[in-house]
This record gives sequence, structure tokens and C-alpha cells, in this order.
Amino acid sequence: MTDPVDRCFAPAQLNGLTLRNRLIKAATFEGKTKGGVLSEELIRLHERMGEGGVGMTTLAYCAAEADGRINEDMIYMHEGVRAGLEALVARMHATGAKVSGQLGHCGNFSKNREFQGKRPLGPSRGINSLGLAYGLPFAGALSQTQIRERVAVMGRAAGFMKSVGFDAVEVHFGHGYGISQFISPRTNKRTDEYGGGLTNRMRFGLECLEAIRAEVGDDFPLLAKISMTDGVRGGTSVDDAVEIAAMLEAGGIDAIICSGGTSSMNPMLLFRGDSLAPGLIENEEKWILKIGMKLVGERMFREYPYEEAYFLDEARRIRERVQCGVCYIGGVCTTESIRTVMSEGFDFIQIGRGLIFDPDMPKRAQERADYRNGCDHCNRCATLIDTPDGISCVLRPDNFVSA
Ligand SMILES: Cc1cc2nc3c(=O)[nH]c(=O)nc-3n(C[C@H](O)[C@H](O)[C@H](O)COP(=O)(O)O)c2cc1C
Ligand code: SF4
Repeated sequence: MTDPVDRCFAPAQLNGLTLRNRLIKAATFEGKTKGGVLSEELIRLHERMGEGGVGMTTLAYCAAEADGRINEDMIYMHEGVRAGLEALVARMHATGAKVSGQLGHCGNFSKNREFQGKRPLGPSRGINSLGLAYGLPFAGALSQTQIRERVAVMGRAAGFMKSVGFDAVEVHFGHGYGISQFISPRTNKRTDEYGGGLTNRMRFGLECLEAIRAEVGDDFPLLAKISMTDGVRGGTSVDDAVEIAAMLEAGGIDAIICSGGTSSMNPMLLFRGDSLAPGLIENEEKWILKIGMKLVGERMFREYPYEEAYFLDEARRIRERVQCGVCYIGGVCTTESIRTVMSEGFDFIQIGRGLIFDPDMPKRAQERADYRNGCDHCNRCATLIDTPDGISCVLRPDNFVSA
């Protein structure tokens, strides 16, 4: 029988796209697009991942439109970023790796100082806790006309991404962002056909998927990153996620990435390991937010100790339910974990922190059965997103510096 690790390092297909192996760098927003402009440092980080051997990288947070950004230091899909994206794609391809872009919309959760609308819009009215100190304290509800406009915006953005050379698009269906605000009963209180039961709550996301597919065509790889559970009272459950996966498959998705949690309410569920709170408090410039975080810290940043392959039990249920591709994510830092995940029949593995710590992880894990990288899941990298230089591994700060 083939060793599952060999299967990982053999070429793999994703809707006609050949990846040299099944390891994909996860979307980890790097904070290296200050003012909405791609930096050389961002391109270098991804290029380094390509040199280290990943099959594909994922450029995080490609906002569908200007007001789809959480803050003004993110890129949005328009002609102004074409040259930068084309350069990133070309440099990645020169390493032999493919490039996916994570297409997202912040919906009702924004602290964008350049926000153009009156207020961020999601499924229902509410408080925009992230925007409290940025003059955006309230979130509004999208009208049905505005829903149709946003669906079209998502479709056009995906078409733009294909036109700059991305090999695949990963649509963000999870982590409390725009689409998942509709999916979660915790944030979707609508009484029209976009709210209520799961079929209705999935309607917006599936309409986005349909519009995206119409723009990119049938033979272009589309992935969806979902939250298998929001991990909050009144949110989605793993039972819901199994049905969500089936609906995505019926909607024509090529692969589902099985994550969990929400950035806004329960971020530690998706990260695991040390709390983000101390680092975020230390790096926060606004004193009011520092105090706020100290007050809500323990409730928001719940304790979830790190374990290798921590989403395996939930992700297995998705694997069992659908025939389309399924991508495992969450806590893969050793060759042994790669073996475990591959032997369970997953098609791809996304890796975040393991690659931030060691961009050469693919090559090393292929060579050594006892490979174990030294990321200690301190999560400090994730607290550096909003700092002037963006993320790096605090244990290996020179990882992405050009030779
Ligand atoms: C610095 C950092 C930034 C992240 N940014 C994003 C993001 O922009 N979009 C996203 O879906 N997940 C994001 N994540 C979550 C990762 O994609 C991934 O789900 C998580 O780190 C667990 O995988 P890992 O154990 O391999 O790190 C981020 C993680 C880190 C460490
Ligand atoms: S800063 Fe480094 S060691 Fe800490 S979680 Fe990030 S990659 Fe791992």
C-alpha cells in the first residue's frame, strides 16, 4: 500500500489544476499591504513558501470591494492592485508553486478608517464592536437590492482575480466574515428568505458561489473555507457544517477547507495554543481598546490548548459526507500529522503557523519521517498583523528577509 506521506508529496489535481504536492500554505493575513498596496515583503514571504516546497500558496484577504476590508491596510480587488498581484503570481510560478487568493468581505465587522458607506452592512442590524473606536459603532442590515449588489461584487472580484493570474480562488465562508454572518443564526436574525432555517441562511453564500462560478467558468478551481462550528452559543454546529458542506458540493465547489471559530467572537477555537490577548493588548495603540480587551479578554479569548491535528474529529465528518475535495487545516506541524491526515482520505492539507515558523517544512517533512517543527503556538505572529511591518515568527524573525 502507498505510504500516505508519499501520496501527500505526489502531484495532485484540483479541477484541472496540477499541484506538485498536497500541501497548501493557509491564508494568514500578513499585514504587509499597508495603505492597500502590495509590498515587496509580502511577495517575498510567499515566494519563500514556494522555495520551501508548498504545492500552492494562498494570498489572504483579497477584499471583494473597498468597503469589504476590515481596515484600510488590506487590498481590495480593483485595477490599482493588478500590477502587484501579477508580480506575486509570476514570482510564485517561478518557484513551481501555484497561487490561490482568499476572497472575502468583512460584512458587518469593520474598523476601516476609509469606509465609504454610512455603516458596515451584514444580514442584520447590530453593534459593530470592532468599529467602536473608529467611528463605525453600528452595523446595518442589507436590503434585498443590496444583497444582489454584493453578490455581483463577489462575482466580479473573482473574475478579476482570475484575470490577474490566480490559479484558484478560496471563498471565505467562515470565521465570522461576510458570508458566515449570514450562515450563523447568532448573527443572522432576518425574517425574509435569507434568514431562518439553514437553507435560507445559506442562500446568500450559494448565490455568491453561483455568481463567482459564472465569472470564472466551470474549469477554474474554487475552494470554500468554512467554520465547522462557530463555537459560540446560538451559532452553527458541526451537524450544520455537514449539511453546509453538502450544499457547497451541490453548488459546484471543488474543495472545502474545514476550519472553525469566528475572528470576532471566538478566535482561539481556530488557532489553539497561547491566548492572543497579551500580544494584542501590547500592540494596540488606542488606549480605549486596550482597556476593552482587558475587560473582555478572558471571555473572548477562551482557552483551547494546542494539540496536533486538532480539527480531525470534526473534519472527518465532512470527509465522510461529500465526494468533492476536502482540505484539512489546523495543527499540522509534523510528518506524523501529515501521515494521519492523509491516511484519513483528505485531499489537501493547509498549513499556517508551521510554515511561518519553517517555510522549508514541505521539503523537510518529505525527507524526514520524524520531522517536527519548532512552532510553539505562542500565536504572537497573529498579534503582529496590525503592526507596521506585519507578521513574522518571533522565534525566527529573519525567515522572510531576502538573501
Ligand atoms: C498570522 C495569522 C493570520 C491569519 N489570517 C487568516 C486570514 O486572513 N484568513 C483566514 O481564513 N485564516 C487566517 N488565519 C488562520 C489560519 O488560516 C489557520 O486557519 C490557523 O492558523 C490554523 O492553522 P495552523 O494550525 O496550520 O496554523 C491566520 C492565522 C495566522 C497565524
Ligand atoms: S510566532 Fe512563530 S512560534 Fe509563535 S505561533 Fe507564530 S509561527 Fe509559531
